[in-house]
Amino acid sequence: MTVLYLVKYIAASPRSQLTSSTRIMEIINCSPRDRATVASLLWMTEKESYIVKTVLTGIKPTGVPHVGNYFGAIKPAVGAAGTSGDASFLFIADYHALTTVKNAKELKQHVREIACTWLACGLDVNKTAFYCQSSVSEIFELATILSNYTPKGLLNRAHAYKDIVQNKGKGDEEVNMGLFNYPVLMAADILAFGTTHVPVGKDQKQHVEIAQSIARAFNAVHGDILTVPAVQIKDDVAVVPGLDGRKMSKSYGNQIPLFCSSKELESYVKKVVTDSSLPTEPKSIDMDIFKIYKLFATKEELKVMEQKFKTGVGWGDVKKELFRVAEREIAPLREKYEYYMANYNEVEKVLLDGAEKAGGRAKKVLDKVRCAVGVI
Ligand code: ADP
Ligand code: TRP
Repeated sequence: MTVLYLVKYIAASPRSQLTSSTRIMEIINCSPRDRATVASLLWMTEKESYIVKTVLTGIKPTGVPHVGNYFGAIKPAVGAAGTSGDASFLFIADYHALTTVKNAKELKQHVREIACTWLACGLDVNKTAFYCQSSVSEIFELATILSNYTPKGLLNRAHAYKDIVQNKGKGDEEVNMGLFNYPVLMAADILAFGTTHVPVGKDQKQHVEIAQSIARAFNAVHGDILTVPAVQIKDDVAVVPGLDGRKMSKSYGNQIPLFCSSKELESYVKKVVTDSSLPTEPKSIDMDIFKIYKLFATKEELKVMEQKFKTGVGWGDVKKELFRVAEREIAPLREKYEYYMANYNEVEKVLLDGAEKAGGRAKKVLDKVRCAVGVI
C-alpha cells in the first residue's frame, strides 16, 4: 500500500477501523523509508509500529468439531482474534491433514465443516485473514527451503514421530514422510508471515519450538530475516470432559458434536456419565456433568445448580437443564452453520479473500528468503 492510498483510506475511515489487522499488516510490510509517515498516519509512534503483534494459528481438518473444540479452541480464539490491533491469521491446515486423511471426499467435507464452524461461531474475517493452507503456495516453497536448515535429528525427536516409532513399535518403513516432515511444514506456516505469537494447546508446544530452532538456524546463516515466534500456551482454557469421563476427544469417540440436530444434542446430553445416587442425595460439583453445565450456564444459573447439588437433585432434571442451556447457546450458531453449509460458495469467497491477504504477506517474506539463499 502506498502512503497516498493510506491517506485516502484514513480520510474515509473512522479511527476505530484503522487498528484492524489489515491496516496493521500494511505497517509491518511498508518500506523502512515510509514507516515513520505510515505510523504517524495510524496515530502510532514509529517505535510502536515495530511492536505490533502478528498472531497466527492453524486448525487441522480431521473431523466434525465437538463441544470440547468449541470451548477449548474456537470460542477463545474467536474472542481474541484481531483484538487490540494485532495482525491475525487463522488457517485450515489441509495439507497437514494428509498425513492421516487419504480420502478426497472426506478431506473436502472436513474442510467445509471446519470453515463453516468458525464462521458460524462468529470469526470476524475483517480482523483475521482466514484461509486454507493449500491456497497459499508460498508456504510450500518456504517449507522446501527450510528443510535445508533442519537437522534430521531435530525431527527424530518430534513427539508424533517418536511416539509411532518408540511406543507403537512401527518401523520407519511405516512412517510417511508427511508425518516426519510435519514440523517443517508447520514452521513454514508460521515463519511465512513474520508471526510473533502462536497460540496453541500444550500438545503443539514442541512444534512451535522446532519452528523457533529452524528460524534461528536460517538466521544464523543469512542474518536476521525470519521472525522467531513466541509460543503462547492456552492453559487457562478448561479441559472439557467427554461422555465417558475422559477428556472429550475425537480419538476417544466420546464427543458431543457441536452441530448435530437439537434432538441428537438432547440424546448426547442424556449419555453424560453420572452416578447412581438418589435425587435426595447431595452431589459433588466435581462431576463432569457440572463441569459441562458450567461452560454453558450464566453465573446465576450456576449458583442455582450448585445449590441443587448441595441439597440433592435428580440426574434427569440436571440433564434437562443442561440440554436447555446448551441448546440456547448452540441453536443460533447451528442455524448459521447450516446456512453456510448450504451456501458454501460464500465461504469459499471468504477463504479466497483470506488467502489473498495472507499470500501478499507471505510473498514479501518469501522474496527476502529467496534473495538470501540466492534463488531469484
Ligand atoms: P481432538 O482431541 O478431538 O482430536 P484436536 O486435537 O483436533 O481435538 O483439538 C483441536 C483444538 O481443540 C485444540 O486447540 C485443542 O486444545 C482443543 N480441544 C480438543 N479437545 C478439547 C477438550 N476436551 N477440552 C478443551 N479443548 C479441547
Ligand atoms: N499442528 C497443529 C494441530 O495439530 C495445526 C497446525 C498446523 C498449526 N500448522 C500450524 C498450529 C501453525 C499453529 C501454527 O493442532
